[in-house]
Amino acid sequence: MDAYEKIISLAKRRGFLYPSYEIYGGEAGFYDYGPLGILMKNNIENKWREFYLLKEKFFEISTPVITPYDVLKASGHVDEFIDEIATCKKCGASFKVEELKEGKCPICGGDVEKGKLNLMFETYIGAKKKEQAFLRPETAQGIFVDFPLLYEFFRKKMPFGVIQVGKGFRNEVSPRQGIIRLREFSMAEAEIFFEPDNKKHENFDMVKNEEMLLVTENDEEFKISIGKAVEKGIIGNEALAYYMAITKNFLTSVGIDEEKIRFRQHKKDELAHYANECWDAEIYSERFGWVECVGIADRAAHDLEAHMKATGVDMRAFKKYDEPIKVKKKIIKAKMDVLGKTFKQKAKKIREELEKIEVGDEVEKIKVTVDGEEIELGREFFTIEEVEEMETGKKFIPHVIEPSYGIDRIFYFILEHNYKETEKEGENYVLLTLPPEIAPVKAGVFPLVNKDGLPEIAREIEEELRKNGIMAIYDDRGSIGRRYARMDEIGTPFCITVDYQTKEDETVTIRYRDTTEQIRVDKKKVAEWIKERIG
Ligand code: ATP
Ligand code: GLY
Repeated sequence: MDAYEKIISLAKRRGFLYPSYEIYGGEAGFYDYGPLGILMKNNIENKWREFYLLKEKFFEISTPVITPYDVLKASGHVDEFIDEIATCKKCGASFKVEELKEGKCPICGGDVEKGKLNLMFETYIGAKKKEQAFLRPETAQGIFVDFPLLYEFFRKKMPFGVIQVGKGFRNEVSPRQGIIRLREFSMAEAEIFFEPDNKKHENFDMVKNEEMLLVTENDEEFKISIGKAVEKGIIGNEALAYYMAITKNFLTSVGIDEEKIRFRQHKKDELAHYANECWDAEIYSERFGWVECVGIADRAAHDLEAHMKATGVDMRAFKKYDEPIKVKKKIIKAKMDVLGKTFKQKAKKIREELEKIEVGDEVEKIKVTVDGEEIELGREFFTIEEVEEMETGKKFIPHVIEPSYGIDRIFYFILEHNYKETEKEGENYVLLTLPPEIAPVKAGVFPLVNKDGLPEIAREIEEELRKNGIMAIYDDRGSIGRRYARMDEIGTPFCITVDYQTKEDETVTIRYRDTTEQIRVDKKKVAEWIKERIG
């Protein structure tokens, strides 16, 4: 068994992960989180919120999963969220074209037929007059379409950030990698809106010395501080670099091995349709090698511009200058006498349209649309004049920097990086060294023996811990050694044992999972003691 098989087997046995719909034969690309799994996943997501909601001072929103056609048409997903696929003519299996090494089916060696697949799941809204829709492929679009309201909420001050934690859906062609490639998965995304020429972060100095392992678009791999990487132009701007550093800090805080994190830059032909620059945080895994877990992209003005074009709603922000400035503008003046002669009653409307247009330079022809008709006008119909005006500020479409985290992949790699096997009394012994904040259960509470009032005291301690918001589990089955082993296997950082001394001096033992060291603590102070150690 390799690490993946061992972990998936433990995860199933101990209630972390279950293959979905297993009694019906299972469905590739779907996984259930079991009782301990969901506790741990919530802890990861809450830790993520601690970074982005509390420290970065962003706000979270929650938008629908079902997304109307027009939104995803405008964003480019209808036309461009596509994988090149190959389907075997002999056995019918499908693959991404990039997975084909020999140009033949990797399963049966048959000939393949190439095609394209849009990865979005289609659905419909309404019963009779059905409107086409999709399950969202990313949570980001829900944030972008709310931009005018969010801009008001943040009192029109930039930069500001909005986060969303929720499901994303992709009808992956060949999800043969278990929990790594799902068709329904959990994303945690932050969309941070910037003035286009000011992609900086006020706390950049705090992270600039962070050493990162980078792989550039030219496949050069080296360690460099994040500050130097910006200085040398390896990373396009400070904001992008800042969120790369934050990503590394978050990943190590939830238990990912620092030595197994690198940032790989997308090559030009690999960039998503919306991205100008993108760095993937990749995590190393025994079975899968380097796997993308977080995409940190500079989406520039792509999305807001697209939604503005499609809806006509102004998605621009306004920046007031410190002092109003004088600007020279070229404006159009219609020649009404000529327009009147040629276009008669329409001339007035044409003038209105014409004079709305601002021109940068001299132009020979201008097109206007009047009552649905497009009319081309040569210079005989207008003059261009230069005027001076006072401008108080400028309107601009904000740029977006986006860190996009895949929670399920991070969840699995935390398990893999913290899975330790040793031998104890001739038996295989498994220890999950999860950070206490991430561990699903924080404390096991045991009576040494099931008599003499010890169980009652242990129950009281369990209750007290739960009242304090600490997930604790009471266990009185089997030897103490067995009970420790069960807790070690699910990563419980502390085990509390009530023994005969407890009755004499009101203290209990607390055992540390990783060192097995034991100390005695006043039983009334246990909740406080644990709280201090679980963040
Ligand atoms: P990949 O190249 O592995 O398909 P991607 O480039 O499509 O990933 P993004 O579009 O950048 O991924 O999505 C953001 C994050 O969402 C990824 O970093 C990953 O952690 C997660 N993710 C994407 N697709 C899946 C999936 N099918 N199953 C689980 N997580 C996923
Ligand atoms: N929101 C990032 C992505 O879907 O790729």
